[in-house]
Amino acid sequence: MVERARIMVVEDEAVISLEIQDRLTKMGHSICGTAASGEEALSVATAKRPDLILMDINLRGDVDGVQAAQQIHDRIEIPVIYLTAFADDRTVERARLTEPFGYLIKPFSEKELYAAIEVALYKNSMDAKLRDSEQRYSTTVRCIADCVIVTDIDMRIILMNPAAQSVTGWKQEEATGKKLAEVFKIVEEKTLVPVESPMNEAIRQRVAMNLTGPVLLITKNGDKVPVEDSAAPMIDDRGELTGAVMVFRDITERKQAEAAIKLAFDSLEQRVREQTAELRTSFDRLGKAMEGTIQALATMVEARDRYTAGHQVRVADLACMIAEQMGVAESRLPIIRIAGLIHDVGKVCVPTEILNKPAPLSPIEFEIVKQHPKAAYDVLEKIEFPWPIADIVLQHHERMDGSGYPSGLRGDQIHLEARIIGVADVVEAMSSHRPYRAALGTEKGLEEVSKGSGTLFDPAIVDACLHVFRQDGFKFKDVQSAD
Ligand SMILES: [Fe+2]
Repeated sequence: MVERARIMVVEDEAVISLEIQDRLTKMGHSICGTAASGEEALSVATAKRPDLILMDINLRGDVDGVQAAQQIHDRIEIPVIYLTAFADDRTVERARLTEPFGYLIKPFSEKELYAAIEVALYKNSMDAKLRDSEQRYSTTVRCIADCVIVTDIDMRIILMNPAAQSVTGWKQEEATGKKLAEVFKIVEEKTLVPVESPMNEAIRQRVAMNLTGPVLLITKNGDKVPVEDSAAPMIDDRGELTGAVMVFRDITERKQAEAAIKLAFDSLEQRVREQTAELRTSFDRLGKAMEGTIQALATMVEARDRYTAGHQVRVADLACMIAEQMGVAESRLPIIRIAGLIHDVGKVCVPTEILNKPAPLSPIEFEIVKQHPKAAYDVLEKIEFPWPIADIVLQHHERMDGSGYPSGLRGDQIHLEARIIGVADVVEAMSSHRPYRAALGTEKGLEEVSKGSGTLFDPAIVDACLHVFRQDGFKFKDVQSAD
């Protein structure tokens, strides 16, 4: 049995009413109210809200059972079972319109009453569940922010949620029953060529489909709205196609945001390009200033020492060639060039008479000359070079076996750049005239470094130097040679 129910009995015959109430009580139901007229039935039903009403059709007064049931039906959802001794066609038709849950023709047996009540209560509970489910479905679709359109298998519109109505400009009541293509018109964004809705394909292929390219929706009043769109077939529990559902959204704001981001990005890119160009100009200017400073330093020392005029440039040239031959990274070549160009700048501290003395130097004079790497270091360390130029210049007279000056460094303690300049310095010096002797020639210079390879000089550097002259045919520029 369905759960015990609260039942209202509307019957103008008191004896029959009592008899029915008695039967209902015996079945386990409770009587929540009775009425003997249509007017009374309406007020008791409204007040008591029974689970079920047993309604006699023929009631005394102006309002009969069918009218009372209609009025109750219009206000509240309460299932009604009619009780009547008359079942003519007209009455049945009137009663049918009030959507009753059953008829009992008087006189009826207890079994008939029992069955009618059970069926009515069960049907009502099923209807309530269905109403609930429909309510949930409808609320869900209505509350979805995306636009939803549902069609039958003929692509006729069944439902449009408020978002879909707002974006398309079509009201649900206008669109219902219309073909989808009439309401949902889309065109290709750039060419404005009409595009088929993914709904067609979703129904044809029975799979979910997405729009592939950017499209515009033509609204009811002709506006064009960029949309994203997907559609899926609706297939019931038996696997049968019942229609399709399409979900789409207005992406105007997203498009605007994307355009704004692109504009900001382009502007940023332009600024970066401009600033990079400015930085490059500034860097070039700085580079030129540094080159000029180095050149000035080189010229300053060479102006005091005519015999070594051009010496530093030639040492720098040779040192770079040796470094390239050795495969030294390209990024280190500017370090070698700059250090080479100013390696003897400390000679400004050596008296001109000593520098230009046309005879071998005395031990004291040589000691004074040996001060020039340190003198250069003291000047250069104050300049913020991006490389250790001051250290390299300081070390250009150091030798691999520790016999050099000023610190007696050995092997790897000496910067590679300083070792390279050291070899280039000796070869260039012997190739050129000196106040105290004529030029000895490049070959003498190469012999000298070859003799010292492994002791005074780095053998790899000596080998590279020999290769530069002998294989690559390197020659010093503007050198008055003895060769
Ligand atoms: Fe030197």
